[in-house]
This record gives sequence, C-alpha cells and structure tokens, in this order.
Amino acid sequence: MFYLTPLTNLPMPSYEQVFENNKNWIASKKATNKDFFINLAKGQNPNYLYIGCSDSRATAEELMGAAPGEVFVHRNIANVISNVDLNVMSVIEYAVTHLKVKHIVVCGHYFCGGVKAAMQSQDLGILNPWLRNIRDVYRLHKEELNSIKDEEQRYMRLVELNVEEQCINAIKTAAVQKAYLETGYPLVHGWVFNVKTGELLDLKIDFDKKLKGIQEIYNLGTNK
Ligand code: CO
Repeated sequence: MFYLTPLTNLPMPSYEQVFENNKNWIASKKATNKDFFINLAKGQNPNYLYIGCSDSRATAEELMGAAPGEVFVHRNIANVISNVDLNVMSVIEYAVTHLKVKHIVVCGHYFCGGVKAAMQSQDLGILNPWLRNIRDVYRLHKEELNSIKDEEQRYMRLVELNVEEQCINAIKTAAVQKAYLETGYPLVHGWVFNVKTGELLDLKIDFDKKLKGIQEIYNLGTNK
C-alpha cells in the first residue's frame, strides 16, 4: 500500500513494502555481481567518513553515488561535532585511527531545520543544549550574519558557517591532528547539499591553513 509524502509527492513505501524492497534490492545486486554480499561480508575499507544531518532528504551514499562499503557514516541533527558527544567522538576516533579514512566530510544542507531552530527564540527542551552549538556558531560570526538583511540568505550563510565550524571541531581532535601530521591524512572537507537543486557544494576549506590557524590554542602535542 502506498501513500504520498507531502514533501516530494513520491510514493512512500508502507512498512511491509520495505521488506519487499529489500528482496528486490538483493536480487538487483546479485544480478550485476553474484558475489556482492560475499564480498561485502569480508570487511570494510572506506575512504570517507561522512558526518551529515539526520534530515531524511540529505542522504549520504545516494547523493555521493557511493556503494555499500565506501562511506563510514554519522548523522545527527544539524551535523554537529561536539567534543562532549561520545557518539561523534567515537566515530571520528574509529574512522581515523582504525579505518584510516583519507577524507572526513562534514556535510550540511540548505533548509536545515536544526539551523533554522537555532535562529529562533524558542525553548525546545532537550534540543536546547544541542542547538546551542549552532547558536555559538552564530555568536562567532555575528557581525557577518547580522549584516545580511535577507533572512533566507542569512539562514543559508549560517548553514555554511556551521559546516566550517564543525570542520574546525574535527580538526581540533587528537585523532585527526595525530594522523594528519604522521601521514598527511585525513583531509577535512566542508560540503553543503542544496535540497532545492540536488547539487553538492564544496566550501573548499583550506585544511592546512585552518589547522595552523588554531594550533596556537588547540595543539595537542601530537607532533612530538
Ligand atoms: Co538538517
């Protein structure tokens, strides 16, 4: 049974349909490569760690055209990297130290509900401390953001600045600093997914410059 999602006007699968879809997916994978799942079970060796928003529209693998096994994924509301979040910190540690990913991508998206909520005066309960991370980004860039008169433009810019600040948070971790100074990897990239066009925008964050810029304060002695 299908009903339409109001957002996309596309049929949304019913609960039962999900398992039908899964069977079809298995068949289609085996049709192109009969050993697909045998190979998948051998292990993972992804080059990418993708940290993105939980928003159902901003998928990781699909927008990158990536296959299973190629991207290690972490998603949370508004793609926040908080140093007191054991979840994201564990993901970074595991991806960098054990999987030895070459690239860490922080991917935000325009029309992000989490970023929008952080721009408004409202009490959202347990979401308050989480969204405070984004309010902190606003405070760091208050002059630039307040100079943008158009509210939608300001909202879009905050999405970009949030990505940039979360990239810096990734660079602040010992795992990233240590691996980068030893091997030249991982590189940290900031992306924005445009929900309206499907386009992926590379904010071209200068990793080396950002690292040098914060090292006076955030150097963890990992280069000794
Ligand atoms: Co979002």
